[in-house]
Amino acid sequence: MSSHELWSAVDAYIGDALLGQDSVLDAVLERNAAAGLPAIDVSPAQGGLLHLLVRMVGARRVLEIGTLGGYSTICMARALPAEGTLVTVELDPRHAEVARANFAAAGVADRVDLRVGAALDVLPAIERDLDAALDFAFIDADKANNSRYLEAAVHLSRPGAVIVVDNVIRGGAVLDAESQEAAVAGTRAAFDYAARHPRLTATAIQTVGLKGHDGFLIALVG
Ligand code: SAH
Ligand code: DHB
Ligand code: MG
Repeated sequence: MSSHELWSAVDAYIGDALLGQDSVLDAVLERNAAAGLPAIDVSPAQGGLLHLLVRMVGARRVLEIGTLGGYSTICMARALPAEGTLVTVELDPRHAEVARANFAAAGVADRVDLRVGAALDVLPAIERDLDAALDFAFIDADKANNSRYLEAAVHLSRPGAVIVVDNVIRGGAVLDAESQEAAVAGTRAAFDYAARHPRLTATAIQTVGLKGHDGFLIALVG
């Protein structure tokens, strides 16, 4: 068995043992695939972690940057109380259209506010429209802008908020300080930003599984 096969088998075990059948999330992945979206959603186990973190924080206001078909969005939206809202930003209108159908099918459309555009362009309108500070943010879009997204998320967050950044390990490519890849440089800039920011206490956790070797940066806003 290759490492990837082993990691995938363990993810399948986690799914069977703890997560259970989820016909709504299965249908999301089917709709994404039918529409030709790339299969770069968080894994079921990672979605389970996002769901638990949103509940642990008792979040009512959540921001996501990078919706794709809304798999991670649905995991988080299901963790919100009735009066909770999640604002999610997606650049590609084709992705947003699939996400909208997925939110309706998942029964979370009332809690999800989907904004279409480049995140840095639409963040000012989101700031104006938010009626309370953020309790939780998930950053998962173009990695080159990760430190800017982190800055925006901190700015909008209440003390005690949690910020998660996806894909920060990149199969170990994050180690390369000389990398010419914008995603690696952007991720390293986010690590530096988190380490230096006086309001942030951060760690990163490597993950293996169905989606390979990657990880989450997790930061608490003080
Ligand atoms: N969070 C999703 C996966 C997101 S994939 C999940 O786990 O289910 C990354 C998404 O970010 C893609 O859909 C891509 O179109 C979007 N994206 C890329 N650049 C962006 C930008 N500047 N602003 C907003 N979204 C962007
Ligand atoms: C890519 C983006 C993601 O958010 C992810 O989880 C995996 C891959 C990508 O752009 O390739
Ligand atoms: Mg991601």
